[in-house]
Amino acid sequence: VAVEVVVGFLGCGVVGSAALRLLRDHRADIERRSGCRFEVSRILVRDAHRSRDVPVSPELFTTESRDVLAGQDVAVVVELMGGIEPARTLVLEAFRAGKHVVTANKELLANHGRELFEEAEANGVNLSFEAAVAGGIPLIHPLTRALAGERLTRVLGIVNGTTNYVLSRMTDDGMSFGEALAEAERLGFAERDPSDDIEGFDAAAKCAILATVAFDTPVVAGDVYREGISRVSAEDVEFADRLGYVVKLLAVAELEEGDLAVRVHPAMIPRHHPLASVRDSYNAVFVEGPKVGQLMFYGRGAGGDPTATAVVGDLVEVGRSLKDGRTGVMLASRFSEERRIRAMEAMESQYYLLLDVIDRPGVLAQIAGAFGQNKVSIKSVWQEGFGDDALLVMITHRANEGALQQTARDLRALEPVLEVRSVMRVEGAE
Ligand SMILES: NC(=O)c1ccc[n+]([C@@H]2O[C@H](COP(=O)([O-])OP(=O)(O)OC[C@H]3O[C@@H](n4cnc5c(N)ncnc54)[C@H](OP(=O)(O)O)[C@@H]3O)[C@@H](O)[C@H]2O)c1
Repeated sequence: VAVEVVVGFLGCGVVGSAALRLLRDHRADIERRSGCRFEVSRILVRDAHRSRDVPVSPELFTTESRDVLAGQDVAVVVELMGGIEPARTLVLEAFRAGKHVVTANKELLANHGRELFEEAEANGVNLSFEAAVAGGIPLIHPLTRALAGERLTRVLGIVNGTTNYVLSRMTDDGMSFGEALAEAERLGFAERDPSDDIEGFDAAAKCAILATVAFDTPVVAGDVYREGISRVSAEDVEFADRLGYVVKLLAVAELEEGDLAVRVHPAMIPRHHPLASVRDSYNAVFVEGPKVGQLMFYGRGAGGDPTATAVVGDLVEVGRSLKDGRTGVMLASRFSEERRIRAMEAMESQYYLLLDVIDRPGVLAQIAGAFGQNKVSIKSVWQEGFGDDALLVMITHRANEGALQQTARDLRALEPVLEVRSVMRVEGAE
C-alpha cells in the first residue's frame, strides 16, 4: 500500500505548474515507483486569484507562507519561487520544522549553499536540488551517488541555453553577436533582460553548484571567475572554424595541483570534442575522472517540463527515504578537506590570440620574443594578408593566465602590433 506524503509548494510558475501537471499525468507510475501517493496541500503564490493552467483546486493557492510551512502534515516543501529572499528564509524555516525540501533555485544554492546544507543536516532532513543545474539533465544524482567512488578531476559544461543558442547562430549561420541575440529574443530563447545569461551570471551560479557537488567543496557564485559572450566577434567564430574549433561559453571546474579552479568564459574547443556538437539551446556537462574516464550528460537544460521531471524525481527519492526511514545524501558532512579556490592569474589554459600587425621583416621575431619572455610557448601561428593589413592568429600551449595577460600587455606595447584584437582560452585540446 502506498504511503500518503503531503507536499507543500512555494511557487507555481513555469516549473511549479509543470511539476503539478506531471504529478497528475504520471500519477500511477510515480506511485508504483515510490511507494508513495503525493498529495499537494497548499501552494504559495504572489497572486492567489489569477487563473492558472494547473490541475489543482483553486482553494489550494495562498499568499501566506505559514499556510504551507505550518501544516503539521506537510512532509516535503517544494520551493519553485526563485530568488534569494524570501526563498532562503522559508527553506530554513521548513528545515527547522523537520520538513524535507526539493528546490530548483540555483541562485539560492550558489550563494547560500553551505548554510542550507548544514541546516538540513542539523535537522536530519533532505535538501534535493537536481533541477537547479541544467533543468532536465540528471547531474546531481550521478555526481553524488553513481560517482561517489571516483575522484573527479574536471567538469566542463555548456549550462546556459541562451548563450549556446546565440553562439550556434554565429557559428552555423555566420550571424554577428547582435543579430544572433535579436533572433534568440524573437524566438523566446532569451529573457527580456538577457544580461544574466549573456554576461555569464547564470552559468557561474551553476558552475558553483557543480563544483560544490563534484569536489566536496563549498563554492559560491562569487568565487567563479566570469566573462560573458558579448565580446565574442564574428571574426573570432570564423577563425575558430578555420582552425578546427568551435566557440562555446564554458563553465569549468577542475583540480589544479590540489586547488580548485572555477571559471566561466567563452572558449574554443576542438571540433571533434563531444561538447562541440551541443547546439542551439541544448546543454551538456562533460565530466572526467581517472577511473571512469570521460562522461557526457546531454539534454534540455531548461523549460517547465524537463525541469519538472528533475523536481518529481527528487520528490520520489524523498518519498522513498521517508518510507524506509532513512535520509538521502547529506552534502555538508561530505565537505571534508577544504580545497583552496585558485586565483584566476594562477590558472592554466591554452590561448588563442588575434593580432593586427604590420608585416615587415623581423616582426614575427619581436612578437615571439614577447611570448618567450613570459614563458608562454607558442603552438602554432598563421598569417592572413600582407603589408599594413596583416593579421596574426596564434595558439599557445597550456600556459599560466597571469603570464598570458602580461604577454598581451607586452604585445600591445610593441610598435608593429597595431591591436590585440582578441584573446580567448582554448579548452579540451591539450
Ligand atoms: N524556468 C526554467 O526553465 C527553470 C529551469 C531550471 C530552474 N529554474 C528555477 O526554478 C525556479 C522557478 O522558476 P520559474 O521559471 O518557474 O519561475 P516563475 O515562472 O517566475 O514562477 C515563480 C513562482 O513563484 C511565485 N513567487 C515568486 N516570488 C514570490 C513571493 N515573494 N511570494 C509568493 N510567491 C512568489 C510566483 O507567484 P505568481 O504566480 O503569483 O507570480 C510564481 O508562481 C527558479 O529558482 C528558477 O531559477 C527554472
